[in-house]
Amino acid sequence: MLAKVLVIGASGGIAQALISQLNGDAQVESLVTVSRQSFSPLSGKHSHHILDSNDESQIKAFSIEQKKAGLFTHIICCTGVLHSSGGMTLKPEKRLEDMNGEQFAEYFKVNTVVPAMWIKHAVNLVNKEGATITVFSARVGSISENQLGGWYGYRASKAALNMVVKTAAVEYKRRAPNTVLVCYHPGTVDTQLSKPFQSNVKPGKLFTAAFTAEQLIKHTIALDPEHSPYYLDWDGKAISW
Ligand SMILES: NC(=O)c1ccc[n+]([C@@H]2O[C@H](COP(=O)([O-])OP(=O)(O)OC[C@H]3O[C@@H](n4cnc5c(N)ncnc54)[C@H](OP(=O)(O)O)[C@@H]3O)[C@@H](O)[C@H]2O)c1
Repeated sequence: MLAKVLVIGASGGIAQALISQLNGDAQVESLVTVSRQSFSPLSGKHSHHILDSNDESQIKAFSIEQKKAGLFTHIICCTGVLHSSGGMTLKPEKRLEDMNGEQFAEYFKVNTVVPAMWIKHAVNLVNKEGATITVFSARVGSISENQLGGWYGYRASKAALNMVVKTAAVEYKRRAPNTVLVCYHPGTVDTQLSKPFQSNVKPGKLFTAAFTAEQLIKHTIALDPEHSPYYLDWDGKAISW
C-alpha cells in the first residue's frame, strides 16, 4: 500500500527533516503538512495547510476537509516545547521552588493537549486497513525510569501524553483496530529545542535531524497493531512506561 502521510508541526527541526525524506520517498504517494507557519510545497505530491493546533476548531475543520480527500496511513505529530513557546520563555525546573503554574499550563497545553486533540480527530482520518499515529514523547516522560528528577513540567506533560496514548489505544482497538499508536523518543537532536542543553550531551549522542527522521521512519513503518501502543526510543528499543 502506498503511503499517505500527515506531518503536524511542520516548522520544527525534526519535522523539516521528516518532510524532506518523506517527499523523496517513492512509497509516499501524498504528503500533507500543517503548521502555524507558511511553507512552500516541495513537490506536486506535497500540500501545506496553515493552522494553529492550539485551536481545536481548526483541527476539526481540517479533519472534515481531509476526510473527503482521503485517509492517512501515517500521522506524525511533531509539536512540543521545552524552553520557549511562542513569546514565552520556559525554564525547565531544577528544584521544587522553580515550579510555577503558568509554565506548567504552557507545557501541558503544547506537549499534551495539542497531540491529544490530534489523536481525538485522527480516529476519523486513519486508513482502516492500517495506519500509524506517532507522537513525540521523550524518555524523561517515563515514570519508571525517572532517577534524575528535575524538569517537572516537561516530564509531567510527556508522561501525561503517554497516558493519553495508552488510553486512546484501548478505544482505537475497538474503533480503528488496525491503527498503531506510538510514543517516540528521538534521542537528543540538534534542533532549537535542545540548543541550550547540548553541552551536557555525551560525544556522538547529539543526533542530526536527518538521522532522527531516518530512524523514526525505519522503526515505526511496520509495527504490529496487536501490540499497540508502543513507547520506543530512537534505536527502536522499548522504553518502560
Ligand atoms: N530535539 C530533541 O532533542 C528532542 C528530544 C526529545 C524529544 N523531543 C520532542 O520532539 C518533538 C519535536 O522537537 P524538535 O526538536 O523538532 O523541536 P522544534 O524544532 O522546537 O519544533 C517545535 C515544534 O513544536 C511546535 N510548537 C512550538 N511551540 C508551539 C506552540 N506554542 N503551540 C503549538 N505548537 C508549537 C512547532 O509547530 P509549528 O510548525 O506549528 O510552529 C514545531 O512543530 C517535540 O515534541 C520534542 O519535545 C525532542
